[in-house]
Amino acid sequence: MKALVLCGGSGTRLRPLSHTMPKQLIPVAGRPVLVHVLENLRELGIEEIGVIVGDWREAIEAVLGDGSAFGARVTYIPQEAPLGLAHCVLIAREFLGEDDFVLYLGDTVLTEGVAGVAREFAAAPTAARIVVQKVADPRAFGVVETDLDGRVTRLVEKPRHPATDLAAVGVYFFTPAIHEAVAAVPPSARGEREITDAVQWLVDAGHEVRASVHSGFWRDTGRVGDLLDCNRELLNGLRRRLAGRADDASEIIGEVVIEEGAVVERSRVTGPVVIGAGAVVRDSHIGPHTAIGAGCVVEAAGIADAILLPGTGIRHVGGVHGSVLARESAAGPAVPRLRLAAGRPEWVGAAA
Ligand code: DAU
Repeated sequence: MKALVLCGGSGTRLRPLSHTMPKQLIPVAGRPVLVHVLENLRELGIEEIGVIVGDWREAIEAVLGDGSAFGARVTYIPQEAPLGLAHCVLIAREFLGEDDFVLYLGDTVLTEGVAGVAREFAAAPTAARIVVQKVADPRAFGVVETDLDGRVTRLVEKPRHPATDLAAVGVYFFTPAIHEAVAAVPPSARGEREITDAVQWLVDAGHEVRASVHSGFWRDTGRVGDLLDCNRELLNGLRRRLAGRADDASEIIGEVVIEEGAVVERSRVTGPVVIGAGAVVRDSHIGPHTAIGAGCVVEAAGIADAILLPGTGIRHVGGVHGSVLARESAAGPAVPRLRLAAGRPEWVGAAA
């Protein structure tokens, strides 16, 4: 079995954060969302991974490389514009060949992985198996209808009036039958070739399609609140490891990771907290549920329930809570500039 991981698209909902980096590379609990995806694929024993890339190809390649760090070979497949999830399958035709594959959206976090669903797919092969979860409001998702026997009868992309509470989480298992479907469906009203339409095409053509309900933690990381949920959930599984240095005037409480080369001085760190490689924390209160990125500089600050993107600088700011903080651009100076709270950008601190 192969995997196709989707990292194209423009991620407009995370603007202005997505001007700094693609949403698939935003770190949660100290590692990019995409790294969590590849670790789930490694658990399935997948060795051939195609990665669909758009404008952020270089940044994504810098993180995944040739895939050997994840026990796999990665093939990058450029997509000229975000023309839809089914379009991604279409342009990966040569890479996918005649193999079964798992289509995995690169901004999806499933903390317990999908090994159980993979086993179901292998044990009872059907043209497609869609991973779904019951949600209170499925209007932002592909919504799946099944018959009493669990066969999928209908899929609708982001319906105004959902017929069920089963949302497609963004992981799909396919046989090569999907290739005829993605070639057959026209672009939708929003101008994208929808994977939901392609799966509906399979159903209408008489193929068996099944849904597997995932009951573990799942988030589509398209919004700041979802990133913070993922950060908390993954940090709850953290184990204490102090590879960096904390001075005697600091208090390091509970499950805290201080990565290599990081320095903590005159500070109180209450786990779960990750302090990334080479970061400096001085005269501050950090945590709980906080991930400080590599190379950040934090001085005289109070931060909890937050993510600091790599290279962010923050000084003399107290009470930072429920935020994702980033420097303005990858090349810019490390200053406290941007805070996203409840999805809305706010400027904090002044540019140095
Ligand atoms: O999050 C689950 C939902 O994902 C499903 O319930 C929907 O049925 C499915 O259509 C999808 O909806 P989204 O609107 O959330 O998809 P989004 O545009 O956010 O794209 C998902 C990922 O795929 C993201 O990592 C970007 C990538 N992508 C997207 C498009 C449209 C590409 O690589 N190429 C594309 O053309």
